[in-house]
Amino acid sequence: MSKLCSQSVTALQGHIDVPGDKSISHRALMIGASAVGETRVSGLLEADDVLRTADALRSLGARIYKSGNSWLVNGVGVGGFRTPEDVIDLGNSGTAARLLLGLLATQDVTVHLTGDSSLRSRPMNRVTVPLSRMGATFDGRDGGRMPLILRGSVEPIPIEYDVPVPSAQVKSAILLAALNTPGRTIVTEREATRDHTENMLRSFGAAVDVFPSPDGGRRIEIEGFAELTATDVAIPGDPSSAAFPGVAALLVPGSEIVVENVGMNPLRAGLFETLQDMGADVEISNQRDAAGEPVADITFRHGKLTGADIPASRAPSMIDEYPIAAIAAAFASGETRFRGVAELRVKESDRFSAIVDGLGACGVAARADGDDIVIQGCGGPPPGGTEIAVNLDHRIAMAFLVLGMAAATPVSIDDAAAIGTSFPGFVELMNGIGGNIAKVDG
Ligand code: S3P
Repeated sequence: MSKLCSQSVTALQGHIDVPGDKSISHRALMIGASAVGETRVSGLLEADDVLRTADALRSLGARIYKSGNSWLVNGVGVGGFRTPEDVIDLGNSGTAARLLLGLLATQDVTVHLTGDSSLRSRPMNRVTVPLSRMGATFDGRDGGRMPLILRGSVEPIPIEYDVPVPSAQVKSAILLAALNTPGRTIVTEREATRDHTENMLRSFGAAVDVFPSPDGGRRIEIEGFAELTATDVAIPGDPSSAAFPGVAALLVPGSEIVVENVGMNPLRAGLFETLQDMGADVEISNQRDAAGEPVADITFRHGKLTGADIPASRAPSMIDEYPIAAIAAAFASGETRFRGVAELRVKESDRFSAIVDGLGACGVAARADGDDIVIQGCGGPPPGGTEIAVNLDHRIAMAFLVLGMAAATPVSIDDAAAIGTSFPGFVELMNGIGGNIAKVDG
């Protein structure tokens, strides 16, 4: 495993782009592969998670290749996938796993799926339970964990399903399964989660109706046996990736950076709101629409941060950003409380513990209080001076490297490879704006 060490630096400066949105990239490939015709995707995230999805779809019969700066996807049409010749290995990607299980659940295929030790430990029953009701069968380890065998239904049944945990992956799995199912499939969510699947299915021609409920939830209805027609997809920069250089600039004195062309879907933008609640100088400009998704440029300037009480209702729109938000909280003055974040326990690693323990190792008082994380900010640079075990979790790796950029003493991570699942070029980009992240021997 190669280690990285991050040292404190003076000011971060520059105008940068971050790689394409991971969630939208997976969906562009999966929905493109289910359409008739050739879909041209620009801005695709070329990271391990997304490349695993591309490989999986190829093994199921789609033609996917890079041409110039675009990716071309020649789809098989709804219901057109074939049983692959080998096991599909989805590496670290929970999104690839859960969305593909949905996409394949209503097709006449038998598929063996597995992943790395992180993915194999993650619960799949949250999707296999509703997909079984649609007629698919699954043989997995306890809790429906991978490796598992999926046998798609030959006579799919439309369902109405109330998703018990806020999860865009579960919602999306059902919507993708509904494509090859007769009649109307209905998914309700109690809190709105990222809606990239709904948006993209519509732009490919599916009939998707979304009804907001007064309490913030949504009811989504999709008409089955959809005919999807290939279309062009322009993928914006990933707000979850922009968060790392962005927060680094807030923490390193004298910094000002601009991240351009960042996806600003309101169901993804919770971190920016949270940082503003903490008094951060985060300015959103040049707001525009790019292929159905809002995008903007974001300026991050160093300044004083104050602890804040972040409600559980914010969680769906910043679910992947808690590791980096926790780093901001470590530098703030006063207490930050992240309410209702139990879902962090089932991410790429147990992020709930990784945040609390990792901050503790860096000399920051952080604790669990039921389902809340409570961080006592240092009101300036925390001590740092430790090595963090990242446990195959890219966001834990990047978050603690950012802490090292402004801590009193350097911070190392034990495994640089994890970063490649979502943010290839992270180290070069951070060093390009003034960071000092370097490989260490041993
Ligand atoms: C994702 C949904 C979220 C998020 C993940 C990407 C998606 O997971 O954490 O990184 O693309 O649908 P959950 O659905 O488990 O909340």
